[in-house]
Order: sequence, then structure tokens, then C-alpha cells
Amino acid sequence: MAKTALKDGVYWVGVVDWNMRDFHGYITNRGTSYNAYLVQDEKTALVDTVKSPFVGELVSNISEIINLEKLDYIIVNHVEMDHSSSLPIVAKLAKNAKIFSTQHGKEELIKHYGHEFDRVETVKSGDELKLGKKTLKFLEAPMLHWPDSMFTYIEEDKILLPNDAFGQHFASSYRFDDEVDNHILMEEAAKYYANILMLFAPLINKKINEVIAMDIPIDIIGPSHGIIWRKNPIQIIQAYQKWSNGITSQDKVVIVFDTMWESTDKMARAIAAGICSQDIETKILKLRSSNNTEAVTEILESKAVLAGSPTLNNGIFPTMGSFMTYITGLKPKGKLWGFFGSYGWGGGAVRGLMEMAKKANFEIYEPTLEVKWVPDETDLKKCFEFGQQFAQKIKT
Ligand code: FEO
Repeated sequence: MAKTALKDGVYWVGVVDWNMRDFHGYITNRGTSYNAYLVQDEKTALVDTVKSPFVGELVSNISEIINLEKLDYIIVNHVEMDHSSSLPIVAKLAKNAKIFSTQHGKEELIKHYGHEFDRVETVKSGDELKLGKKTLKFLEAPMLHWPDSMFTYIEEDKILLPNDAFGQHFASSYRFDDEVDNHILMEEAAKYYANILMLFAPLINKKINEVIAMDIPIDIIGPSHGIIWRKNPIQIIQAYQKWSNGITSQDKVVIVFDTMWESTDKMARAIAAGICSQDIETKILKLRSSNNTEAVTEILESKAVLAGSPTLNNGIFPTMGSFMTYITGLKPKGKLWGFFGSYGWGGGAVRGLMEMAKKANFEIYEPTLEVKWVPDETDLKKCFEFGQQFAQKIKT
């Protein structure tokens, strides 16, 4: 493999997982990569490892640059297994390397891989590791997105290695942002933020402000998934500032629903027509044709969401129950939520959706809209008007 250098002495040694399609439930249509970095000076440090099925490729990539026995340090920015599960093998091969992580990281490594990791040395924000002319500086980033999470900054090269932050599940034969389509890159970055980091928006905002206050120059951001930001790293920082502050650029409503015998489907389409009649953009996602990952991504930059469900067994249709569980966990900021649905004899779905949203402290639009059996012309007119009124509520 040709060496991929971020700057002199800083190499990407990660692997591309072309066929990953389901990352613990997150649908990754474009695959992913696990990015590890080798920083070479008088001393050499490996920053992060990769998912264990790819350990052979990682070892091969490192070995093209240095014999693993000569590796001096291994930095563990994050213990989640996509970045650490090959560590036990790498640590055995790099038998002379000292391993560094945060205190939480050390505890988690021991719980994941056993007491051979009692030897991990802990670092905290502000600690430095001199490699020669290059210096690694550490910045703890707890809950971005695990307690152990940490950023490593290569001071002289102005390279930030923030692990999961600023990443994307995007497999490519290219490594850098100036080599790929920027629209696709930002689409995947938004999807990643929405599905992995949205819950931690207040902490992200605080951490970005902390980094800005430190006034550290950043030429390159090397996340642990996807494409490396070297052309315009400020682009992704600004996007994170926008997303973490709940700033939406569009008056847009996302209608997320599912249907049994097309009644809720007909309602969704009539409601969407009502919204569009007010010059508000809308997007309809039927969950059995789409998925939670896509729905959450659409919601990230939308002002409002309408959730629709038929009643099944006196309650929410299962796909909609799954969606509400997912989205209430991710807690998107600043959205208006409305609800609709259909039923046969006794309802229950709309009430169930509302209860979940109320429990999550979502801002709720009332009234809701329910149709018994199949919507007739009168019902569809009510759906259209419901959409109109909902659109008026969010119109700027
Ligand atoms: Fe990419 Fe939190 O693991």
C-alpha cells in the first residue's frame, strides 16, 4: 500500500470497511473506515487501532513504516470496539510500547480486554508527550461520545485527531476532503452527527468553544471514520456549531410515518399537500421503505416533524415505536412535533406517540388528527387543512 501522509511523519494506517451496512443499527449505505494514525519522530506513536477483523491490514500498514517492536507509544482516544478491538493483538506485537488513555479509558480497556491493560498509563487534558520535534497534546472529551473519549493534537503539525468527532461513515479509496464530492461528504457528516452525536449537542458546543478559546491552530482534522479534513477544516467545525445549537437553515417539515392498509399513507400525502400549499418544503418518509437513520438525518435540519401511525393492538405501530424510541433518545433540539394516525375501532397510536414525545419534553403541536378506518374526501380535506395550519405555525 502506498503510504498516505497527512504531513511529514504523520501517516494514515487505517482500513476501509467497504461492506459495512449496519453499524449497531445505523444504516451505513456508503460503508465506513476505521482511521488509525502513525506519528513518527525520534519516538513513534500509534493513535488508535481498528475493528478486530481488520487487524492484519492494520499491522501490515504499520509494518510498512516501522517494525511494531519499535513502536514506542499507543494512544487510545476511545475504547469503543470499532477503534480498540484489535488493540490486544497490536499491544502484544508492539511489546515495548507504552499505552496511554484517559482514566475512564483505562477502566474500560480492563473491562473489555482484561488485566493485561493494568499497565495503561493515564493522561488528562493539557498533558503532553514529546516524540522529538513533534509533541502530542491531550484534551479529554468526556461523553463525546463515551466517558473515555479524548482528542489528540499534534502541536507542531497543527493536526487534531478527535476520534469519532467530525467523522463520517464513508468508505472511499480517497482519504482527503479535496479528493471527494463535498456534497456527499457533508451529507455523510450530517448523518453521522445526527445518529451518533445529536444527544450530546450541549457538550459538543461547549467543547468547540473550549477549543476555540485555546486558540490552537488547526490545519487538518483527522477523524477516526471517513474522510480527513485538510482543505477546509473550518467547514465541519462550523457545521457542528450550527447543528449543536439546533440552528435550521430551512423551513422544512419531515413527515415520518408507517401504514398498514394505506390509510395513514393517504393522510400523510394529504397533509404534505397542505404543507406545500404554504410554500413550506416537506419530505415524506414511510419507515418500511426508509429507516430510522435516514429519518433522523432529515430531522437534523428541519424545523418540525409530523409523526403518523396506524393503531395496532391498541398502540403504536412497531416501526413507529422504534422510531420514537430512537429519536426521543437522541433529543433533537428546537423542533415542533405534531401527530396523526388512523384506527379501526379503538385508537391508541396517536396517544402513544404523544406520550412518548411529552416524556422527552418535545415541543408539541395540538390538535392531533385521527381518522377512523379509511379516509374519505371529507377526511382528506381535514388532513390538507391540518397540514396548512401546521405549516403556518412554523412559517418564518
Ligand atoms: Fe467510532 Fe464511538 O466509535
